[in-house]
This record gives sequence, C-alpha cells and structure tokens, in this order.
Amino acid sequence: MSQPRYSTVPAHVAIIMDGNGRWANGRGLPRTMGHRKGVEAVREAVRTAGESGVKYLTLFAFSSENWRRPESEVSDLMGLLKSFVRRDLETLHRENVRVKVIGDRANLRSDVLPLLLEAEERTRANTAITLVIAFNYGARDEIARAMRSIAGDVAAGVLHPADITPERISARLDTAGIPDPDLIIRTSGEERLSNFLLWQAAYAELMFIPDFWPDFSRQTFLAALENYASRERRFGGLSERPLAVGS
Ligand code: FPP
Repeated sequence: MSQPRYSTVPAHVAIIMDGNGRWANGRGLPRTMGHRKGVEAVREAVRTAGESGVKYLTLFAFSSENWRRPESEVSDLMGLLKSFVRRDLETLHRENVRVKVIGDRANLRSDVLPLLLEAEERTRANTAITLVIAFNYGARDEIARAMRSIAGDVAAGVLHPADITPERISARLDTAGIPDPDLIIRTSGEERLSNFLLWQAAYAELMFIPDFWPDFSRQTFLAALENYASRERRFGGLSERPLAVGS
C-alpha cells in the first residue's frame, strides 16, 4: 500500500471518537455494536496515522464523565478496552507502536489497570508512533491533579510561585513529554471539546467531521490530513512558525 505523505503532516493528531451509539441506533442495533465497530475504526486509524508519518495519535477512549452511563455500557466499554489490549498488543508491538495511557489511574478497576501498565511497559522503547489512550480522562481533572502536585512543591518550599510557568504546568500534566496536538478531530458532527486536552489544545487546528466514529475510514483520515495541510497556522504571530516547546 502506498504511503501518503503530505507536505505538512501533523506530528500529533487527537481524536474525539463520537457517534458509536448513533451509528448503532440508525441500524436498529444495540449501542454496544457501535462500540464494537468503533474498535475496528481504532485499528484502521492507528495504521493510517503510522503510514502517514503522524508521530502521536491520541484517542479519547473513556472520559471521567462516562461513568455516568448505564452500568452495562460501562462494563461493555471496559471489556472492549481489555480485549483490545489483549488481542492487539503483540501486533502493536511488532509494528513498533508505543502505547501511553493518560487519565486518572487512581481507583481504576483491578482487571483494567495492570493491562494498561503492561501495554505501556511492553512497548516503552518503540519509536514508530505513540498511541496515547485517554482513559478515565478529563482535562479539568488532569489540570487539578497537576495543580495539586505544584501546590505541594510550593508548600514544601521547593518551588517558588514566580517559577510556575506554562512550561512547568505542561510538564506536570499526564501528557508531559508529548507535544501539544496539532490537529483535534471530532466525529459525529458535534462541535465541542467536551473536557478533552483543554490546556494542550491552545493552538490546535479543530476539525469536525460529520461521520460517526465507526465510519471513520482510512479515506476520511487522509482527507482530514489533506485539509490540515492546506491550513495556515500562525501561533499568534504573523507567519507559520512552530513553537519550540509544546507547540
Ligand atoms: C462515543 O460514542 C464513544 C465512546 C464513549 C467510547 C469510544 C470507545 C471505543 C471506540 C472503543 C474502545 C476504545 C479503544 C481505544 C479500544 P457515543 O457512545 O457517545 O455515541 P453517541 O454520542 O452516538 O451516543
């Protein structure tokens, strides 16, 4: 298969995978079938990102607000994540994909956390692309945890308030060491960030795509990358110029 490379490939693409339920409803299927089909779209997105030269792909798999869904749907989503890690970890590893998980790890179910840790550990040294799975993730929660950590250092006298800079805040977030997303895509036609990467989205290009997530194909992804390449980014200045840190 040819490897399309656009003149300006985003280093980091983050996706809000929305519309699984509506995809299923429209076909008279249970919502869970939408999530199942969504996992296939995840596989294709990881492959397409890697082939296109994207270095980081962040997927919003489960938000800290998703616990409010019915118990059966929550347990279905947990099951799908677990089976994705169990079934796909070796393939991801073979394809040189590094897995990183962001989100609150405290109080995660004992059948989920070890799998996520194993995926991170097994793929730690891989270099082709980093797949960032946002799980039990909420941006305000992430920022609050970072602030608590900084406040702890200030209280202990090891950090002066004057030294709290945007770079130091970035370094305390779950995404420390990961460049800010260049492109954030949301599927299903909704036009919101829904508590996703709020700090990191400062200069991201936003793209809202009408397709439901299970229909997000290789072609849709490539069209999004082409659209991105045609955009001019200014970072608050007058010409396109990537910022040095976390741009
Ligand atoms: C949004 O659709 C989607 C989710 C809440 C979960 C996304 C999860 C997956 C695609 C599967 C597991 C993920 C990985 C990384 C293996 P929705 O249910 O909110 O759809 P709706 O808005 O149409 O109801």
